[in-house]
Amino acid sequence: MFSLALRDDARLAPLEVWHAEEFADHMDRAREHIRPWVGAAFVTTDVDGARATLARYAERQARDGARLYGIWRDDVLVGGVMFTDFQAGAGWCEIGCWLEPGAEGQGLITPACSALVDWAFARRGLHRAEWHCRADNQRSAAVAKRLGMTLEGVRREAWPYGGTRHDKQVWALLATEWTPGGP
Ligand SMILES: CC(C)(COP(=O)(O)OP(=O)(O)OC[C@H]1O[C@@H](n2cnc3c(N)ncnc32)[C@H](O)[C@@H]1OP(=O)(O)O)[C@@H](O)C(=O)NCCC(=O)NCCS
Repeated sequence: MFSLALRDDARLAPLEVWHAEEFADHMDRAREHIRPWVGAAFVTTDVDGARATLARYAERQARDGARLYGIWRDDVLVGGVMFTDFQAGAGWCEIGCWLEPGAEGQGLITPACSALVDWAFARRGLHRAEWHCRADNQRSAAVAKRLGMTLEGVRREAWPYGGTRHDKQVWALLATEWTPGGP
């Protein structure tokens, strides 16, 4: 119902349980592209799996926790951003993102993440936003850099995928480092 214009042809809006079929169709386009880089539970194979992801986020949002937002380009769901964790009491959150391959390289994700950071810092008074990615995920690290995040460290061999334990980078941004409105 409510959406934020990212530009003329793209909008950001809550991704909810009633989007399950649309989310499943999108996942069919995105699955192989995102599989190496995101949590396994997010990479579902059918409408029931898609609905379960959306319900999981809805339940966490009801407790003021994680939240999920879709990006629609020309009214087609092409990806999204999320608070993978949101800890209002402790003052920190973690932000994540994904796109189907046809929507990559168009500048959709950075402004969408900026909107989440703005809300977390300016509206909710959080102090710290984190970004976790596989150390070899250059496109994801580039988003963290564009947001003005600092690479704080590497959790060595913390990301098992495909029989290999990959390093995981932890990036973060403090509220005092953020210019309202984004980079
Ligand atoms: C990570 C991911 C979401 C980044 O997407 P992205 O499209 O590279 O990021 P942005 O939306 O910020 O777009 C920036 C790119 O758009 C380009 N671009 C095109 N038009 C643009 C515009 N009008 N404004 C800004 N950038 C624009 C930029 O040049 C940049 O491309 P480049 O890096 O090739 O120079 C995407 O690679 C992805 O889905 N990967 C798989 C899943 C994943 O890794 N998720 C993150 C897990 S930690």
